[in-house]
Amino acid sequence: MSYPYQIKSFEQYQADYKRSIDDPAEFWSTIAEHFTWKKKWHTTLNWNFKEPKIEWFKGAKLNITENCLDRHLEKYGDTPALIWEPNDPEEHHRILTYRKLYEKVCQFSHVLKNNGVKKGDRVCIYMGMIPELAIAVLACARVGAIHSVVFGGFSAQSIADRLYDAQAEYIVTCDGAYRGQKDIPLKSVIDDALIGNRIVKKVIVTTRTRTAVSMIKGRDVWWEDEIKKVETLGLTDFPAEEMDAEDPLFILYTSGSTGKPKGVVHSCAGYMLFTNYTFINVFQYQRGDIHFCTADIGWITGHSYILYGPLSAGATTLMFEGIPTWPDAGRFWNIIDKYKVNILYTAPTAIRSLMGFGLGPVHGHDLSSLKVLGTVGEPINEEAWHWYDDNIGKNRCPIVDTWWQTETGGILISNLAGITPAKASWATLPLPGVEPILVDDKGAEIAEKEDGVYKGNLCIRTPWPSTIRTTYGDHERCRTNYFATYDNLYFTGDGALKDEDGNFRITGRVDDVLNVSGHRIGTAEVENAINMHANVVESAVVGYPHDIKGQGIYAFVIYQGSHAQNTHGTADLIRKDIHQTVTRIIGAIAKPDKIQFVSGLPKTRSGKIMRRILRKIAEGETENLGDTTTLLDPGVVEEIKNGKL
Ligand code: PRX
Repeated sequence: MSYPYQIKSFEQYQADYKRSIDDPAEFWSTIAEHFTWKKKWHTTLNWNFKEPKIEWFKGAKLNITENCLDRHLEKYGDTPALIWEPNDPEEHHRILTYRKLYEKVCQFSHVLKNNGVKKGDRVCIYMGMIPELAIAVLACARVGAIHSVVFGGFSAQSIADRLYDAQAEYIVTCDGAYRGQKDIPLKSVIDDALIGNRIVKKVIVTTRTRTAVSMIKGRDVWWEDEIKKVETLGLTDFPAEEMDAEDPLFILYTSGSTGKPKGVVHSCAGYMLFTNYTFINVFQYQRGDIHFCTADIGWITGHSYILYGPLSAGATTLMFEGIPTWPDAGRFWNIIDKYKVNILYTAPTAIRSLMGFGLGPVHGHDLSSLKVLGTVGEPINEEAWHWYDDNIGKNRCPIVDTWWQTETGGILISNLAGITPAKASWATLPLPGVEPILVDDKGAEIAEKEDGVYKGNLCIRTPWPSTIRTTYGDHERCRTNYFATYDNLYFTGDGALKDEDGNFRITGRVDDVLNVSGHRIGTAEVENAINMHANVVESAVVGYPHDIKGQGIYAFVIYQGSHAQNTHGTADLIRKDIHQTVTRIIGAIAKPDKIQFVSGLPKTRSGKIMRRILRKIAEGETENLGDTTTLLDPGVVEEIKNGKL
């Protein structure tokens, strides 16, 4: 069974697209009629990109969880909402029906309230991929608190920064998390993050790994104990807080070109509408389908396409705790077979890494339930696309290549499975409501083709419902980052190509942001972390093509110290020290893949590092490094070239 606003043909896509651009307010308000509102809106859209100010469904009151849970209960109460597959395939899986999930969210909403959480409070969630994470997120939304989920791989320092930026008073965490063979002590990381913190009042801890934890009197409480109190009172409902359409729903931190992560803010109504609409249309979800998005809820993909998109559609969403290669590289295929998964949504990095294991791990698993495949997070190379198509989809499942960002909340450019044509390694066409435009460095629309395609910086001309509203606590930062580069345009930071038929191909970031295994990491952030090492004088970080990760992190480091850098063993030890420092400051995901020690960095006379040259060297280019005459010391380039790793 399909949905009333599900696009069924290419012609309908074209017609809906045209309608959405001609009159966005009319288009989205018609779709909004299908949701549950406590009060209807008086103004569908009010915006300007100057400030920026973007308001959708002004005047409306709602709670997103009533749309994700309550409204499904009558008809779909016994339908599985969340299927949870644990890290260890030997452990029992869990299935939460809509009714069960509703009850659990209501109970935990009471726990939040009993512990002092109110509408508008910020709650930091730092957990592994267990159902309690989904429950905590939804319970925050139910009580009107703003959740800020921090990916379980971030360090104590990163958490401390995010807690401070959001002025968060509450934390929900676990004792530990399983990831493959590892057991990560999350609560202990939180304890480190809280040293010197005077803002956090309560830490709610759930049990997963039974790792020993230190519970601090007056501050730390056990999830299970708190739930028992609610159960004793027999409370299974919790009245959903009435939220304004534009009230913030969550903050999600992401990297930019500066050293400090930005707290991207999404609001209740627009985000709900757009994640629901894109989920239903891009994946062509049919009621009863099982949707498996392999992302972590710590990233936007998990927020939008494990939780809010699917649940608002009454879908069955599968949440997986582990990693694709443990206990073996057949883990995804085993899950697909076990639950008869219909939609698989994963990252090119995962596909490339699994390709490396050959077809052995794929064989022996029945993948015939699959109907749609998806990719997200980074450009997918043709080889990986075809491998996915041939061996996983067996050439009968459309592949949707979905382009979007933390700031866009939902998918902006993608083919619609089986409805609009796919094109290997092209994200293809914009979703209704999305008006992409390619511009040159001055903001003029690209009018001339180069090698048969238009090529430029990707911008969006008008707001879609889940446009970023602000960066938490610093609206000016939101303006300068996204709305000030070009007049009246949202700038994505990506470069793209466009063909004759209007298809887009994303070529990658044009700013100083790296995309490592589909994770965004700012070069400045990594440099700041490396520079924290006592013996590092200066560093410069660039990306380079990496077979599996898409991009690898290449660091050029000026190191001063008594260690003899030339001795192979010593240099490796220093590299390990630097890794340790980066892991401590950011987290293991930001560890450089290559560290080259240099005596100087190519700088202009005004002291600016010429990253363009370093990027070329890291990419293996030795000849055409461009103009080096403006360099303070051109000699340093030779040295760096000769020492390339
Ligand atoms: O460079 C683009 C790349 O990922 C960036 C957004 O990263 P993040 O906010 O972490 O969100 C990732 C998940 C939505 C974009 O600026 N990117 C995302 N999807 C694609 C992509 N690049 C090419 N093709 C995609 N499908």
